[in-house]
Amino acid sequence: MSSETSRALVLERFGTLPGPVERPVPEPRPGHTLVRMRAAQVAHLDLNVVDGEFGILPDLPVVPGTSGCGVVLASDTHAEGSLVRINGKGAGMRRDGCWADHALVPDAATAAAPEGTDPALACTFFSPLGTALAAVHAVAAVRPGERVMVTGAAGAVGALTVQVAARAGAEVVGVVGRPAKLGHVPAPGKPVLAAELSEESAGGPVDVLIDTVGGPVLRQALRLVRRRGRAALVGYTAGRDFGVDLADFLLADVALLPVSLMTRGREVAADAERLLADLTSGELTLPIERYGLDQLAVAVERLRTGEAVGKVAIDLS
Ligand SMILES: NC(=O)c1ccc[n+]([C@@H]2O[C@H](COP(=O)([O-])OP(=O)(O)OC[C@H]3O[C@@H](n4cnc5c(N)ncnc54)[C@H](OP(=O)(O)O)[C@@H]3O)[C@@H](O)[C@H]2O)c1
Repeated sequence: MSSETSRALVLERFGTLPGPVERPVPEPRPGHTLVRMRAAQVAHLDLNVVDGEFGILPDLPVVPGTSGCGVVLASDTHAEGSLVRINGKGAGMRRDGCWADHALVPDAATAAAPEGTDPALACTFFSPLGTALAAVHAVAAVRPGERVMVTGAAGAVGALTVQVAARAGAEVVGVVGRPAKLGHVPAPGKPVLAAELSEESAGGPVDVLIDTVGGPVLRQALRLVRRRGRAALVGYTAGRDFGVDLADFLLADVALLPVSLMTRGREVAADAERLLADLTSGELTLPIERYGLDQLAVAVERLRTGEAVGKVAIDLS
């Protein structure tokens, strides 16, 4: 057994935050890759697992963290010293995940990351970029010249949706909840405060709504979609209930379309991987807030309150 120790955040009870534990570095095993973690994502999905409010839950204790990036220490499938992403195969859900200095995961949960990529970017970009691509292209089928409204436009998915829609030739209105976030709507999106949302502030009705926020913001934004327009629904940070008055729904004649990266992932994967280069060069932007392993509580609070701008990651370098 290795005498080296490794820090890990261990969840003992759902509804509490995982705490730091020193434990031995996991022993390499056939079919598994041992990774010295460099960065791990803190995402809404991870918080759902930590809260015990997700369809797939681990036996406890467990190390959460469904996505991360680091350097290979031992593997049958990757060269030692190469950079890999970790995601899937139950990592951080059914088995120990990425909120630790070291992770031992099934080979199938790893994928090579381009050398030189920022590890925090490598482990955070896919979900928001893939979701943005799915929403704009696969689901809403945005056409050049259309007017597209994006809610949560300074959030991770929202900010990339603004940029992907603009690249598709759309005129984009980006809605944010807090005045402090107006400056974080990526250009050329026109920033609008949700509290001031009206046909006038939005510059008229829109052809497409891409909503990453849900709750009352969705209800408000839907009124600004033209008849026979489309609304692609991505997230529900502001509330998961959405009552429909059928008479109003039929009169509005707006198609409500669900966006699910779970079912669309394969469709958008190649484009998302290709666009990682644009994120690295800065042609596309995804802000990332970084916190140390001992600052998990701050990271979680920033994400839960919606104050975080872009993605949140634990820096393990
Ligand atoms: N459908 C899919 O396949 C899929 C894939 C990825 C993510 N998602 C979901 O999409 C949503 C957005 O993800 P994200 O990564 O972009 O999240 P994010 O970066 O945290 O952005 C969410 C935005 O929601 C707004 N918000 C409004 N009310 C809020 C509240 N009560 N608490 C927190 N935020 C609030 C915040 O913007 P303001 O401050 O401007 O209000 C925040 O920027 C999440 O619900 C996520 O689970 C869905």
